[in-house]
Amino acid sequence: MRDRLKQAVGNVVSGEAFWDREKDMELLIEKIDGGANILLVAQRRIGKTSVLAELQERLGDRYICLFVDLQAARSGPEAIADLSVVIHKHKSLCEKIREVFGNIWEKLTESVETINAGEIGVTLRAGLTEGNWRGKGDQIFNILANCEKPVVLMFDELPIMVNFMLKDEDFKITPERRKQTDEFLSWLRKTTIEHRKNVRTIVSGSIGLEPILRQARLSATVNHLEAFELRAWDEDTAKGCIRALARGNDVTLEEGAAEEMVKMLGCCSPQHVTMLFSHIYGACKRRGDMSCSVEYVAEVFEKQMLGVRGHAELTHYEERLEMVLGKEMFTMALDMLTEAAVVGCLTQEAIKGFQKEYASDAGDTVEAQKEMLWVLQHDGYLEESAEGYKFVSGLLQKWWKNRHGGNFVSVLERGK
Ligand SMILES: Nc1ncnc2c1ncn2[C@@H]1O[C@H](COP(=O)(O)OP(=O)(O)O)[C@@H](O)[C@H]1O
Ligand SMILES: [Mg+2]
Repeated sequence: MRDRLKQAVGNVVSGEAFWDREKDMELLIEKIDGGANILLVAQRRIGKTSVLAELQERLGDRYICLFVDLQAARSGPEAIADLSVVIHKHKSLCEKIREVFGNIWEKLTESVETINAGEIGVTLRAGLTEGNWRGKGDQIFNILANCEKPVVLMFDELPIMVNFMLKDEDFKITPERRKQTDEFLSWLRKTTIEHRKNVRTIVSGSIGLEPILRQARLSATVNHLEAFELRAWDEDTAKGCIRALARGNDVTLEEGAAEEMVKMLGCCSPQHVTMLFSHIYGACKRRGDMSCSVEYVAEVFEKQMLGVRGHAELTHYEERLEMVLGKEMFTMALDMLTEAAVVGCLTQEAIKGFQKEYASDAGDTVEAQKEMLWVLQHDGYLEESAEGYKFVSGLLQKWWKNRHGGNFVSVLERGK
């Protein structure tokens, strides 16, 4: 393993800024070579998109890797349009994809002399409809199936798209929305299986696909995908990364400083490890002393990680959670997470307390709560222990407590 590491520029890291994940990469490549279709699962900010970027670098000479970000797609036709734009960027496939879009394409080249990816995307989206996406999609898969090299199709953030397709902005899974989602995912499943000789897919995203599909009873549409769990770094990997970053950026870590960083974080999400280092680096630069003691780690953690920047990060977590759960469930989830953050544990007794407090005529609170706890575990907020549910990440717990913990009264103490 290399002994120094560059600080990443931008969100997605690969190459020189990519740390470890050796075993994961090895296993993933083995599975891809074996023809598997993969569902890359992990809580957000664990490094899924970075792993996909690194895979593209390592597989690039043997496979055609196509990375499609579906974050902004809201329907089957839009997903096919986004895929087409990515394929079009590939020199060897560019002509073929134009043929699929015949007339639509001609209109595009008539109207503009130099076309960019944005314009292509807009035009293709306009040309793809609920009526023709499937035919075009089949043609596209035929092209991919006949490439000179096997193809790895990476669909990042598919769960966000599926979540939106199912619930739109009012968070109601209607029969019509369910039907359209089912049609798209079933088509994708069928087509992937049909062309498995030359095409593999990796689906990944920062909100869990499984809980969403469970809610809609559509889990079978992804049963061709083999789940691959990407975990947070273990302590040694995190310490190795911190030391390599320190060496690569002229920071001198005093005895115990790397250990203190890991201790402060509680759970070593790569994002949080690199974020803490970057705060320490910045603070050292500003005071003109690049030597970092255990006490300094604690100071920077307290002032910077738990400060404004921490709040900004946490807002992202909350937005994602609301996106999956919808407004009503989100309020109860917020309350339950605050209980876990402040008290340190969400006990069975407290869970019953929330059932009573949120009981309504509108629906089955016990079922809703079960579903919610499943989502909270699946998305990496809480883990089950003998006493009850606890936060996985010490940092997230502290953020949560700082933001929502003021004036909080435990559910077991309310109304006393
Ligand atoms: N292997 C890695 N080496 C170094 N930093 C990483 C690595 N993986 C993730 N990171 C850090 O975590 C951040 C989030 O990574 P990203 O791939 O966007 O996660 P995800 O797609 O799971 O949300 C990156 O911006 C980077 O700072
Ligand atoms: Mg990502």
